Amino acid sequence: MADLRNIVILTGAGISAESGIDTFRSEGGLWEQHRVEDVATPEGFARDPDLVLRFYDMRREAIQTKLPNPAHEALARLDAEWDGELLIVTQNVDDLHERAGAKRVLHMHGTHLNAWCTACDVRTPWTGPLIDRPPCPCCGESALRPDVVWFGEMPYEMERIYAAIRRADLFVSIGTSGAVYPAAGFVRDARNLGVQTLELNLERSEGSHRFHETRLGRASELVPAWVGQVLS
Ligand code: OAD
Ligand code: ZN
Repeated sequence: MADLRNIVILTGAGISAESGIDTFRSEGGLWEQHRVEDVATPEGFARDPDLVLRFYDMRREAIQTKLPNPAHEALARLDAEWDGELLIVTQNVDDLHERAGAKRVLHMHGTHLNAWCTACDVRTPWTGPLIDRPPCPCCGESALRPDVVWFGEMPYEMERIYAAIRRADLFVSIGTSGAVYPAAGFVRDARNLGVQTLELNLERSEGSHRFHETRLGRASELVPAWVGQVLS
């Protein structure tokens, strides 16, 4: 990997699975227990805000009891030691990359630990519940919602992500099923630009055939091994 300088990493729920956070599409995963239309769409929120707020309150509380695992730690080490460009684009709404120490992280699907005021459009760090309709610290309106991107909404910072992919030498996808666009399309975008592509996942994802290389296994083993290889 002599000419490797700029790296874009996409992470999904699989990287946090070994920290005890449920994935979405596995057996017993979140989307088996809850209907996406009910808890992860603007229409669901309009129909039954209590159900949606309670769902995210539970998730927000749960992630704060979880800890980063060796996969998050390895990426944090890569972030600290890599002097080329690096962007960790995560679909995850937990903060385990940051708690492991990573800095160059972009949350394309938002974060559980923010509340977003639909009255004044300000985002505030938030660790408690939203079910009681607390006032926005900025404008005082009771109009806070989870700062999580729902189906039918535009993921955050797409321009910055595509700019990073255009400059990348390597695109690595970790722990994601490749079921949700636009993230699932990054591998094709990268390949069209001549970027090398690598998948690290427990099982083959939907777009697995698009990657130059796929390594199958647990993130807690695959990611530290790959980071060790890149840094050596
Ligand atoms: P999924 O639940 O769809 O996929 C998780 C992937 O991780 C699967 O391919 C698993 O095989 C893999 N996996 C599970 N355990 C693993 C482990 N220990 N090591 C490595 N891989 C493992 O989750 P995402 O692809 O992240 O969006 O889902 C994408 C988006 O769909 C989420 O961001 C969320 C969801 O709806 C929104 O909420 C907008
Ligand atoms: Zn406000």
